[in-house]
Amino acid sequence: MLRLFREDLRAVLQNDAAARSTVETVLAHSPLHAIWIYRIAHALYALGLPWLPRLLSAFARFGTGVEIHPAARIGRRFFIDHGTGVVIGETAEIGDDCVMFHNVTLGGTGKHEGKRHPTLGDSVFVGTGATLLGPIRVGRGARIGAGAFIHMRDVPAETTVVGVPARIVKQDGTRVDAELPRAAAGETAP
Ligand SMILES: CC(C)(COP(=O)(O)OP(=O)(O)OC[C@H]1O[C@@H](n2cnc3c(N)ncnc32)[C@H](O)[C@@H]1OP(=O)(O)O)[C@@H](O)C(=O)NCCC(=O)NCCS
Repeated sequence: MLRLFREDLRAVLQNDAAARSTVETVLAHSPLHAIWIYRIAHALYALGLPWLPRLLSAFARFGTGVEIHPAARIGRRFFIDHGTGVVIGETAEIGDDCVMFHNVTLGGTGKHEGKRHPTLGDSVFVGTGATLLGPIRVGRGARIGAGAFIHMRDVPAETTVVGVPARIVKQDGTRVDAELPRAAAGETAP
């Protein structure tokens, strides 16, 4: 757990241009506090504790504006900048080295049961205000532009997607203009 905490801290120091010092970041970077509290809540959730994980998550939301369900699975070195308004749902999965700004939603559509939230591969970037809905897959290295809206569409690896509804504007660094493929999970509830 301490190793995870240290890696999360290092991710802030590496990614946040405004991070001045380790002490200041530990004391004042509220999205980092939210991630640390999530890591404790997730460990307690995995042990099967009934209400404490949700209580911790509610406490983190109150103090940081970041709401992460304790059952969500989040990889190493996760960095959230600013944080307020981030919502990460119960069955969301996030790979290693992902970056996310404020007001991002990894949510459900309301039509699915079981796995109903997005899965992000490693090194995914999600800009401020992006909304990703449903059990969709976002491939490794994808970049989701600020304000993008994605509903039941998968995002291929190494693409940049922007807009409402989101479209692919870059693939492997080359400018393109293409639709996102329908989510492999399908439009209907499993
Ligand atoms: C999408 C993003 C990651 C850039 O990725 P990129 O691969 O470097 O893409 P580019 O900047 O080359 O843009 C490619 C095209 O998408 C457009 N575009 C970029 N970001 C966009 C956005 N958020 N919404 C709509 N269009 C966007 C560009 O205008 C460009 O279109 P054009 O070629 O027709 O002019 C970046 O623009 C972005 O949205 N970052 C989020 C930053 C953020 O959340 N900041 C919060 C700070 S508090």
